[in-house]
Amino acid sequence: MSVIPEISISSAKLPQKGTLVVLCDDKAKLSSSIANTDLGKTLKRAIAAADFKGGFGKTLRIMVPQGTELEQVTVVGIGKQSEMDEHSWLKLGGKISSTVSSAAKYVVALELPGKDADPKARQISDVAQGIQLAAYRFDRYKVAKAVKPKHKSIKVTLISKAATAAKKVWAEQQGVTNGVMLARDLVNEPANVLTPKEFAKRAGELKKLGCQVEILDEKAMKALKMGALLGVSQGSRNPPRMAIIQWKGGKPKDKPIAFVGKGVTFDTGGISLKPAGGMEDMKGDMGGAAAVTGLMHALAARKAKANVVGIIGLVENMPDGDAQRPGDIVTSMSGQTIEILNTDAEGRLVLADALWHCNKKFKPKFMVNLATLTGAVLVALGNHHAGLFSNDDELSEQLAHAGLATSEKLWRLPIGPEYDKLIDSKNADMKNTGGRYAGSITAAQFLHRYVGETPWAHLDVAGTAMGSPQTDINKSWASGFGVRLLDRLVADNYEK
Ligand code: BES
Ligand code: MN
Ligand code: ZN
Repeated sequence: MSVIPEISISSAKLPQKGTLVVLCDDKAKLSSSIANTDLGKTLKRAIAAADFKGGFGKTLRIMVPQGTELEQVTVVGIGKQSEMDEHSWLKLGGKISSTVSSAAKYVVALELPGKDADPKARQISDVAQGIQLAAYRFDRYKVAKAVKPKHKSIKVTLISKAATAAKKVWAEQQGVTNGVMLARDLVNEPANVLTPKEFAKRAGELKKLGCQVEILDEKAMKALKMGALLGVSQGSRNPPRMAIIQWKGGKPKDKPIAFVGKGVTFDTGGISLKPAGGMEDMKGDMGGAAAVTGLMHALAARKAKANVVGIIGLVENMPDGDAQRPGDIVTSMSGQTIEILNTDAEGRLVLADALWHCNKKFKPKFMVNLATLTGAVLVALGNHHAGLFSNDDELSEQLAHAGLATSEKLWRLPIGPEYDKLIDSKNADMKNTGGRYAGSITAAQFLHRYVGETPWAHLDVAGTAMGSPQTDINKSWASGFGVRLLDRLVADNYEK
C-alpha cells in the first residue's frame, strides 16, 4: 500500500542527522545559512563534481555526506528564482516526494538560495500538498503481489521562518488534498465494487465532516418523475441513487452555490454498445460525481464560509432485456420529452434530471456541472484542458481564472441557438444526440435546456479526469481533476 507522508511545519533549526532536502538555484547557490557551514562546503563540492546545474525540479542525491552525521542530502533545483510561478511549489513538492520516497523521515529546508525571503505560507503549503499528491497510488487490490512499503509511515518536516502562518494554511489545505485523493480513489475503484449504492454510501460518509447528506433511491426518484435518469438505469441490476450533499458554512439566508456531477459507475453504452477495446476505462465515467464528492469533502474539511450543494446522479448503463432502446421516448422531470437515438449518450440524461432537481429545489446562485460527457472533447482539447460551456460570462471568467491558478485548465467553447437546433427532434421535444459535428457542444446544448435562467457552466472532463498524462503531482490513472479547481473558485469568489 502506498504511504501518504504526514507533514509537519516548523521553524526549528536544521537537523544534523537523518535525511535532508535543500534547495539550490541555477547558479548552484544554496541558502545563505547553509552555504557557509561544513555541510554547505561539502554540498558545493558535490554539486560541482556532478556538474549539477540546479535546473527546476532536477535533483542530486548525496549519500552519507562527508564530515556530517547526515545519512543523505538531496539537493533540489529551483532554477531561476525569478522564473518560478504560482505552480512551481506544488510541482517542487511532487519532485521531492518522488525523489526521497524511501526515507521514513526527512526534513526539507525551504530556505531560498541567496538572501531572498523564504517562501510564503501558501507556497509552503503547496509543497506539502505536492508531497502528498505525488505519493498517492491506487494499489489496494495488489494483494498477493503487493509491493511492501519500506516504512509504515513517512514523516516530513518542512522548515521555514514562515512556519506559523504556513501551518494555518496547511491545516485547511490538508482537507483539500484529502478531497483530491478521495476523488482519485472513487475514479480508480472498479465498477463491481463502486456501484451506485456503494458510491452513495461513500458520499454519506461526508456526514462525519458536518455535511447533510440525503440519498434518493429509485422509488424517491420515480416519485419525482426523473424519467431521463431512470431510463438510463433501467437496464442495470444495480439500482440508481442520487446523493444530495449540503455544506452550510455561509450565512443562513445566503442562496447556495451548486455543483452537479455525472456518476455513471460503468458505461457500456447500453444497447448502443461500445466496442470492447478500452471499455474498462468506463469505470471512470463517474469522474464528475467523484470531483463533486471530493470538493464537498474539501469544503467541509476546511470549513468553507459558503453554502454549497453537491448533487450526484448515480447509475449504471447496461444492455439488458429491460434496457432502454434507441427510439424510446422518455419524459424528464422537467416535463420535456427526449427521444433516445443513442443509448450511449446517457450522461446528459442523468444530468438533465439532476440539474433540474437542483435548480428547482435550491434556487442556487449558479450551477456548475462536471461530467465525463463526450469523447469529442478529447478530439478537441486532448488531455490538457477540460471543455467549458456556459451561459454566463462572469462565471466563465471566474472558472477560467481558477483553472489557471490551480493548473486544472479550462478552455471555453461556444454554445448558441445554431447548435441548439441540432438536437430538435421530429418525435419529441429533443433528441439525445446531435449528429456527427460539434458533439461536445450539442451535449452542452442539451444540458442548457435543463438549467432555466440560472447562471450555469458545464465542464466536460472526459479528457482530464482519468487517463491524462502523469504529472509531478499525479502518478495515478485518476487525477482528481476539478477538486482543487472548484475549491479555488469558491475560496476566491464566494466566501465571506
Ligand atoms: N462516457 C462517454 C464519454 C467518454 C468517452 C468519456 C471517452 C471518457 C472517455 C459518454 O457517455 C459517451 O459515450 N458519449 C458518446 C456520445 C455520443 C453517443 C453522442 C461519445 O462521446 O461517443
Ligand atoms: Mn456513454
Ligand atoms: Zn458515459
